[in-house]
Amino acid sequence: MLGSQPDSDDGESMPVTAPATTRRVIQLDAFGGVDVLQLREAPIAPPAQGEVQLRQVAMGFNYIDIYQRSGKYPLPLPTGLGHEAAGVVESVGDGVTDFSVGDRVIYMNAGIGAYADRRNVDASKLARIPDGVDDISAVAVFFKAMTAEYLLRKTYPVKAGDVVLIHAAAGGVGQVLSGWAKALGAYVIGTAGSDEKCRIACEAGCDQAINYSQDGWVERVVAASDGRKAQVVYDSVGRHTFLGSLDCAAKFGTVVVFGAASGPAPSIDPELLNKKGCLFLTRPSVFPHNADTATFRSNAEAVFDALRKGWIKPSMAARFTLDTIADAHAMAESRQNAGAIVIVP
Ligand SMILES: NC(=O)c1ccc[n+]([C@@H]2O[C@H](COP(=O)([O-])OP(=O)(O)OC[C@H]3O[C@@H](n4cnc5c(N)ncnc54)[C@H](OP(=O)(O)O)[C@@H]3O)[C@@H](O)[C@H]2O)c1
Repeated sequence: MLGSQPDSDDGESMPVTAPATTRRVIQLDAFGGVDVLQLREAPIAPPAQGEVQLRQVAMGFNYIDIYQRSGKYPLPLPTGLGHEAAGVVESVGDGVTDFSVGDRVIYMNAGIGAYADRRNVDASKLARIPDGVDDISAVAVFFKAMTAEYLLRKTYPVKAGDVVLIHAAAGGVGQVLSGWAKALGAYVIGTAGSDEKCRIACEAGCDQAINYSQDGWVERVVAASDGRKAQVVYDSVGRHTFLGSLDCAAKFGTVVVFGAASGPAPSIDPELLNKKGCLFLTRPSVFPHNADTATFRSNAEAVFDALRKGWIKPSMAARFTLDTIADAHAMAESRQNAGAIVIVP
C-alpha cells in the first residue's frame, strides 16, 4: 500500500510503505461443515508490545483444523482457524529486539487464527526459517515435523533396531514420522488406506506398509515384524485402529494415541493394558511440548536439521488459497491427500 510523506528535506512528497490497516482472514461464526469457513476483510491494528506484524506467505493445513472447524474440539465463537504460517516481518512492536523488518519466520503455537494474509504474532512464538528453505516447503513440514520431533525423541525415544508402527503413514505427519524413524535406525512398519498410499509410505521411509482398509491388518503387521511386534505404535487414527494397536505392541511396548482421524479411541479398562503385555498408553499433544520459547526454538532447530540432512522431506499433496480453503478441508476429510496441504493467501 503506497502513501505519501510530504515533509521530505527538499519539500517534495516521497512514496513510503504505510502499515496495512486491513487483512483477509478466515472466520467462523458456528461449527459445522466446510461452508462455515468465511473469508472476510477485517481491520488489523499495528503490532502491540512484544508483537510483530507478518505478511503471511503460506499457511499450513493440519488435521486439527478439521476437528476445530467441526466443533469436535470446541473453541469460543466467533473464531479464526489454523495454527501454522510462514511469513515476512513487516513491522515490529515496542520491545521486540530479536526480529527486524524483512526477517522470514514461522510459527505453529501462537494461538488459533493462522488462516489470514496478515497477522500480529507474539515474537516469542516465532522461529527463523533458515536460508535454503523456502516458505512453502517450511510450512509443508513444520507443524508435522514438530509433532514427529516430540513423538520420536520424547514420548518414546526411538532406538536403532526398534520396530516402530505408524498408522496413516502416507499422511502429512505419517510421512515425516516414517522418514525420521527410519533415520534413527528403526524398522518402520506403516499402515495406510490404499495400496497407492502404502507405496507412498514406503517411499517416505517405511520398510513395509500394510493396507489397513483390508481385513487382517493386525496379523499382517505382526507378521511384518517377524512376530516381534512394535516397541512403539504411533496411532493418530483412533477409533478404527486403537484396539488393533494394542495387539501390535510388543510386551512393555508403548501405544501413543495422538489423533482421532476416524473418531475418538474407545475407552478401555486399564486392566486390558496388563493383558496385552503391560503396555504403556499415552495421549500427548505438540502444544505443551513447545510452550516455552527456548524449547520451541531448539525443537525448531532439530526439525530444520532433520530437513537439511534429508531425514524428512516436505511432501506437497496440494495447494489452495484462502478463497478455496473449503476445498482443502474437503480433500483432507475425504482422505484424498497423501502428504501436506498448503494454503497461500
Ligand atoms: N497430538 C498431536 O500433537 C498432533 C499433532 C499433529 C497432528 N496430529 C494428528 O495426526 C494426524 C495426522 O495429521 P495430518 O495433519 O498429517 O493429517 P493426514 O495424516 O494428512 O490426514 C489424516 C489421515 O488419517 C487417515 N484416516 C484414517 N481414517 C480416517 C477417517 N475415517 N477419516 C479421515 N482420515 C482418516 C487418512 O489416511 P489413510 O487414507 O491412509 O487412512 C488421512 O489421510 C491427525 O489425526 C492429527 O490430529 C496430532
